[in-house]
Amino acid sequence: MNWVSIAILVALGSASQTEDMLYLQAGYFVEHFTVPLDHINGDPGLISIKTLLHIGDPNGPLFVYTGNEGPIEDFFYMTGWLVYTLGPYYNATVAFIEHRYYGDSLPNQMNYAYLNTDQVLLDFAQIIMQLKSMESTPVVVFGGSYGGMLSAYFRIKFPHLVDGAIASSAPVLEYLDKEGIGLMYQTTQDYFDVYPNCAFNINDGFNILDNFAQNSYTWNGLSSIFQTCTPITSSSQVLALEDWLSNALEAMAQLNYPYPTNVEGYLPAFPVNVSCSIIGVYSSPIKNMWRTLQGLAKVAGLIYNSTGTTTCYNPWDNSTDQTDLSWTYQTCSELVMPSGTYGVPYDMFPVRPWDFSAFNASCYQTYGVYPNLEWYPINYGFTPFYVNSLKNLSNVVFSWGSEDPWQTGCLKEAPNNNVRVIGINGGAHHLDLRRPNRNDPQSVISARNSEQGLIEQWIGWSG
Ligand SMILES: *[C@@H]1O[C@H](CO)[C@@H](O)[C@H](O)[C@H]1NC(C)=O
Ligand SMILES: *[C@@H]1O[C@H](CO)[C@@H](O)[C@H](O)[C@H]1NC(C)=O
Ligand SMILES: *[C@@H]1O[C@H](CO)[C@@H](O)[C@H](O)[C@H]1NC(C)=O
Ligand SMILES: *[C@@H]1O[C@H](CO)[C@@H](O)[C@H](O)[C@H]1NC(C)=O
Ligand SMILES: *[C@@H]1O[C@H](CO)[C@@H](O)[C@H](O)[C@H]1NC(C)=O
Ligand SMILES: *[C@@H]1O[C@H](CO)[C@@H](O)[C@H](O)[C@H]1NC(C)=O
Repeated sequence: MNWVSIAILVALGSASQTEDMLYLQAGYFVEHFTVPLDHINGDPGLISIKTLLHIGDPNGPLFVYTGNEGPIEDFFYMTGWLVYTLGPYYNATVAFIEHRYYGDSLPNQMNYAYLNTDQVLLDFAQIIMQLKSMESTPVVVFGGSYGGMLSAYFRIKFPHLVDGAIASSAPVLEYLDKEGIGLMYQTTQDYFDVYPNCAFNINDGFNILDNFAQNSYTWNGLSSIFQTCTPITSSSQVLALEDWLSNALEAMAQLNYPYPTNVEGYLPAFPVNVSCSIIGVYSSPIKNMWRTLQGLAKVAGLIYNSTGTTTCYNPWDNSTDQTDLSWTYQTCSELVMPSGTYGVPYDMFPVRPWDFSAFNASCYQTYGVYPNLEWYPINYGFTPFYVNSLKNLSNVVFSWGSEDPWQTGCLKEAPNNNVRVIGINGGAHHLDLRRPNRNDPQSVISARNSEQGLIEQWIGWSG
């Protein structure tokens, strides 16, 4: 079982106290909406959906963030453009709606049968109908990553309830990458672009670890370099350490923003560049195996020890929280996200091909379900021929960043002129949704301007 398991947002921590403060400071409060647990078959159970709400002018538009896999505060914090720019400018009522089965929006009994995108969209629909101050209130939905997939699906399924959608870094086509090559290929590209030896030296580190996994006399040294909480006692722990490093490198590529951030703990500006400066530009002749590994340990510390308070690491800790369980269920049923690593020349990681049949078997073992590969393209039209199947879709922006590992599953060609694809040169994961910053590249400033112009058309703004 060696597929790299990466949630779209690697959840290393949950909403902190500061985040709670932030939504209060921005004029938001918490509201819970009780909706049917089962909108479709009429199971009588109910579920309470947490929403962060700001009430605007009754004549203003309604802007909704379609929550993704995690506590809603996390997405509030990452969507400052909506909170601090668009909401106030249009006097909008703004709602960040939590996704069912995440954060505080849990069912009374953990029956995963009601965790699917159809039920989630119906939660959004019911809450939107309650929040509209008038029948004619214009509505725009926003989302990043899986939340962006949901905002696009919402416009596809409920065009009568929403005037347009901003789907940022939404990997709607990820499932088509059957061998799961793209995600880690693009991650590698980010490190390679800083300078090629950065990626090659990281690859050397993984080769050394693959080798050391077979040589138990190295394990004490490895335990010490990587500050593991308990000494390494098996090859499989060395392999788990490699996955732990891969996850860190991928997460920093997603979060390669041009200014310091506090998403997964504190990260410096351009963490990929910083990692490469740690790894070093040196090449073969002056290489030293232990020095290479020390570099990797220091890079991992950027993200796993960002507060400087971690005393040791647990790379083979396989404990799961509710976010992991709910998201893995979703990838085991509707939303298969293949991801493997293939080594040079595909990527800088160890060779761990995506193994669909092992994934399929583990899904059955954990949840009693098999991935259904047919349902998703039928349900939303994101087939390989989406240019045709979505020819009548309108008022959706699909934006993607050239530095974002998930661009591999993003739409690159619009199905028609009423749908816009916007590439953000140098952009990491949903950079456009973040609060504008003076270090933003021109590409994201232009992307936001185009998006804002379209939003004004959709809501009939004549301000
Ligand atoms: C927003 O609402 C305030 C108070 O109702 C009003 O004074 C202001 O003109 C509105 N702004 C816009 C852009 O409509
Ligand atoms: C980071 O690396 C990229 C290459 O991917 C480069 O374009 C950019 O200028 C670098 N940024 C800094 C601050 O070094
Ligand atoms: C985390 O960072 C602090 C401060 O730099 C350091 O003292 C500590 O050893 C680091 N922890 C690990 C596990 O490396
Ligand atoms: C987690 O790891 C422990 C010890 O390594 C193992 O016994 C257990 O089966 C693992 N659990 C899962 C869910 O993989
Ligand atoms: C998943 O495994 C089950 C049982 O082993 C099998 O019937 C099913 O065809 C597999 N699914 C796919 C898509 O291969
Ligand atoms: C759907 O798209 C086709 C092709 O662009 C166009 O001819 C047709 O008028 C559209 N239908 C509707 C209902 O918009």
